[in-house]
Amino acid sequence: MKIAVIGTGYVGLVTGTCLAETGNIVTCVDINKQKVQMMQQGQLPIYEPGIETLFHRNIIEERLFFTANLAGAIADATIIFLALPTPPGADGDADLSYVLGASKDIALLISSYKVIITKSTVPVGTADKVKAIFRQNTDVAVAVVSNPEFLREGVAVEDFMKPDRIVIGTQDERAKEILTELYAPYVRQGNPIIFMDERSAELTKYAANSFLATKISFMNEIANLCEKLGADVDMVRLGVGADERIGKRFLFPGIGYGGSCFPKDVQALAKSAETNDYDFKILHSVIQVNSLQKNVLINKLNAFFNNDLKGKTFALWGLSFKPETDDIREAPSLTVIGHLLKAGAKVVAYDPEAMNNVKALIGEKIKYADDQYDALIGADALLILTEWSVFRTPDFNRIKKLLAGPVIFDGRNLYSPHKMAGFGFYYNSIGRMA
Ligand code: UGA
Repeated sequence: MKIAVIGTGYVGLVTGTCLAETGNIVTCVDINKQKVQMMQQGQLPIYEPGIETLFHRNIIEERLFFTANLAGAIADATIIFLALPTPPGADGDADLSYVLGASKDIALLISSYKVIITKSTVPVGTADKVKAIFRQNTDVAVAVVSNPEFLREGVAVEDFMKPDRIVIGTQDERAKEILTELYAPYVRQGNPIIFMDERSAELTKYAANSFLATKISFMNEIANLCEKLGADVDMVRLGVGADERIGKRFLFPGIGYGGSCFPKDVQALAKSAETNDYDFKILHSVIQVNSLQKNVLINKLNAFFNNDLKGKTFALWGLSFKPETDDIREAPSLTVIGHLLKAGAKVVAYDPEAMNNVKALIGEKIKYADDQYDALIGADALLILTEWSVFRTPDFNRIKKLLAGPVIFDGRNLYSPHKMAGFGFYYNSIGRMA
């Protein structure tokens, strides 16, 4: 099938590349000519494990193209994906100007039936707005479909190639047939394509992300309670997760969820409820719990150092909001760094991928280490903020030698408290006894 993907951000590029991989001819469109040129030369503008091989293969085998020319890209395409940014607007609602602007441009160019798909996370009712734009600007028949994506950064290729489900919001029978064929290679294991109306599909995305954020916040509160009650959250997690109605996944406590999706989507759903005269009480609590959880390590540090962090040096392992990404949007590390600097402490950080992004944001306010051990030299404590695999089995004797004192605050529960006591560390993690 011939496909155009409008917008080559994270979602657009993963979608375009993975659709080319199953034999479709995909043209990705972006208004940024420099970026288009880069991609035409085989340079990938995002970090995402596993995508590079597919990206290069499909460019070489001429299934994946890049252009700044919208008209050329959509002329032959039956399917047009809109993977455009929807940043928070002034009033907290998503800003739809890119999605609606592109819809109008497309409406003015088309001369044959198209399936127009919104991939971006958009407020309920967006498909209706897009339909209205097509009605106003063209007589050509189109199907406007809501097809939210559920990709996780870091495992996006796997999530795209083997999704748990595909949600398609449309009542257009022709579009249903086309999309059933398009997605057939991805649901071979029997995972469902779930058809529904556009509004339900749009809401499904917000409900899924908000539910997962709630699950995490709930476990973060259980972890905090474990510390008060002398229980071990790892045991509680295993005990409750074994119930299939609850499920094992997404029960890991930590220092709060971050990223470009959960914080934004939970806020947006709460706001959308409010606009529609409904007070979504759980979501307000989730937002509050998450913001408090980002301070948990700082509170522990203050208790340990008697509220005197001034002049002390802290080594940070991990800056990205989660492993396998260089993304630092809403990362708990930024909250931790802010508190440490405000308290007059010095910070030396190491992250395998995200240091350049932090440098671009806060510059030389902190130091950046060449490797994870360099960060430790003379530090009063090590703080673990992201569970990168390289931090999972370090050389503990080396850590002890390099730190000024054998003190570790672990926001991701990477090590066994028992083992750490054996090494002679003061080791404080989340929801487990020190
Ligand atoms: C999330 C969803 O998982 C995807 O399904 C969705 O498509 C995506 O948002 C989106 O809307 O685009 P992502 O933000 O990439 O994906 O990251 P997750 O792996 O979901 O992690 C989110 C945050 O939750 C991270 O800060 C992570 O550290 C935290 N988390 C996750 C926990 O604290 N505990 C857990 O058990 C799991």
